[in-house]
Amino acid sequence: MIITIDGPAGSGKSTAARKLAEALQIAYLDTGATYRAITLLALRRKVSMDDEAALIQLARDADIHLIPAPDAVRVLLDGKDVSDDIRSPEVSDNSHYIARSPGIRKVLVKLQRKLGAELGDFVSEGRDQGSVVFPDADIKFYIVASPEVRARRRCEELIAAGQDVVYEQILKGIIERDRRDSTRATAPLTKPDGAVEINTTSNTVEQTAEQLLTHVEQQR
Ligand code: DC
Repeated sequence: MIITIDGPAGSGKSTAARKLAEALQIAYLDTGATYRAITLLALRRKVSMDDEAALIQLARDADIHLIPAPDAVRVLLDGKDVSDDIRSPEVSDNSHYIARSPGIRKVLVKLQRKLGAELGDFVSEGRDQGSVVFPDADIKFYIVASPEVRARRRCEELIAAGQDVVYEQILKGIIERDRRDSTRATAPLTKPDGAVEINTTSNTVEQTAEQLLTHVEQQR
C-alpha cells in the first residue's frame, strides 16, 4: 500500500505521516530529508546556490541513505549520520534553492521511487508525492492549516528547543515559503488529483492522525 501526504510547511503533515505509518506498521518516507541532505552537502562543499549545473552534479554523485526509524527517519550522507544537521536553520533557509531545480528534482524523484520500491508499503510525505512521484498511490492526502496556526506551532517548537522567537517573523517566513513552494515552475505544491483534503487548523496532532487512520480504514 502506498499512501502520500502533501502539504505546506508546518501543516502537521510530518507528525501525522509518522503516526499513521506507525499505526499501520508500515514505513515512513520523509522526502524533504532528501532535499535537505543535498542542501547540507552544497553548503559544506561551498557550492554556490546559483550554480545549478554544479548542484545537479552534486546531487547525482551524492551517497544518500534513508533508514526508516520509529521516531524520525535517519539520514546517512557518505555513510555518516546527518539526521540532526539537516534540520539546522541554515539548511531550512537554503533548501528552496535545491527544491526549485528541475535537474535536482529529477535525481531526487528517482531516488525516492527507488526507496519506495525497497520499502513496499509506506507513507510518503512531501510536496509532490501524490502529484508527481507516486501518482498511482492508493490513498492521497493534502494537509493544510492557516498560516497563523502554523506559525504558532513553529514558535512553540523553537521555544521548546530553547530558541528566542518573534511570532511576526516566523509568520512572515511561513508566508514566504508558501509563496516559493506553490509558485515554483517545477512540481509546485498543489493538491494532487484525487487527494482528500484535511484542514488541521483546529486539530491536535492526535486528532489529525486519527482522521487519516479512519479514512485509510474506510478505504481498505
Ligand atoms: O518538508 P521539509 O521542510 O523537510 O522540506 C525541505 C525542503 O524541500 C523545502 O524547501 C521543501 C522541499 N520539498 C520539496 O520540494 N518536495 C518534497 N517532496 C519535499 C520537500
